[in-house]
Amino acid sequence: MTSVDMRTSGALADAERWTAHNYHPLPVVIAEGEGSWVVDIDGRRYLDFLAGYSALNFGHRHPGLIAAAHAQLDRVTLTSRAFVHDQFATFCRELAELCGKDLVLPMNTGAEAVETAIKVTRKWGYQVKGVEAERAEIVVAADNFHGRTTTIVSFSTDPDARADFGPYTPGFVVVPYGDLAALADAITPNTVAVLMEPIQGEAGVLVPPEGYFAGVRALCDDHNVLFVADEIQSGLGRTGRTFAIEHEGVVPDMYVLGKALGGGIVPVSAVAADRAVLGVLRPGEHGSTFGGNPLACAVGTEVVRLLATGEYQRRSARLGERLHDGLTALVGQGLVAVRGRGLWAGIDIDPALMSGREACERLADRGVLAKDTHGSTIRLAPPLVVTADELDHALIQLAAILRP
Ligand SMILES: Cc1ncc(COP(=O)(O)O)c(C=O)c1O
Repeated sequence: MTSVDMRTSGALADAERWTAHNYHPLPVVIAEGEGSWVVDIDGRRYLDFLAGYSALNFGHRHPGLIAAAHAQLDRVTLTSRAFVHDQFATFCRELAELCGKDLVLPMNTGAEAVETAIKVTRKWGYQVKGVEAERAEIVVAADNFHGRTTTIVSFSTDPDARADFGPYTPGFVVVPYGDLAALADAITPNTVAVLMEPIQGEAGVLVPPEGYFAGVRALCDDHNVLFVADEIQSGLGRTGRTFAIEHEGVVPDMYVLGKALGGGIVPVSAVAADRAVLGVLRPGEHGSTFGGNPLACAVGTEVVRLLATGEYQRRSARLGERLHDGLTALVGQGLVAVRGRGLWAGIDIDPALMSGREACERLADRGVLAKDTHGSTIRLAPPLVVTADELDHALIQLAAILRP
């Protein structure tokens, strides 16, 4: 073992010793990042094709985002919502305009934004729709991933996410993703919302059948049900549009946003909806100490401004074609399936060759970081600042590990 390897193995052993084992990280210890690249403590460079599960859509340390953070660090970082600060209205207005909605409610993590959506749609159900107390139902999709709180895992269908965390929160109905007839059957007079990911990321970047979400929208309209799109991973440029649901020609009643909204610097999440929906909340009914803090708002405003240029969506659409063309060429050459949109792909490795985990380890050895999800499926989500050359480089490394 060289002294170089010893640095990495020492850091890995330390991390293993001092943390709960709720993750199984690849054996890479990152020390620096810039753009699409990270460098480990031994000086090895890797292309980051996970991009913080889409939290790093603008790459590591995007200069505009870092400058906004630095400027705000020198002014004021936290006030709590007991007072208003001078970054708050700008962020909320610009994000609401990006979403085409009246109002925004900022939180921190994705799970908190999903919890916000659940609380707001339930309250809307009781106060506006007239659902009987305690009877509200929310329809969700099988194989969903919306976060890790006890309420959210209550409607997960993944045993790893759910088992032994009960008792579970009632009020959720699970239907197969992509099955409109099942959704129609599941809607009752007590249904307040349909909550779904426009593309299921954690499930393996599953794109729904064409026309599915247009059908979801129509069913919601027919039954006075709110359609809530969880765009935490799929949104903010990832698929070549600002929101993945745009590919379906559908406008949801509420967007749930997170990850890239914080520019890879701070946790920032939010829900955006019209006044008729978000207006049901009154002072004291919901909140978070850190939600909408000055640092988060300064970075978040810069994120919204980057997206408002359309440049990142265009890059994702254009380079996404290159990525998908390259991946499709590997089907039958070690890949059995490729799915996704824009710079987002789920690839299924031939299980006879290796597991997804093994593929990610081999990719890491060749300087490309990616993450397996279930079995032999890997998620690829490079930062939207990735170049064509970098994409080609990663595709060459992937082809190399698939060769027998
Ligand atoms: C679609 C979706 N919703 C919600 C979440 C939860 O976000 P967080 O981990 O910030 O709580 C995630 C995280 O992966 C996600 O992909």
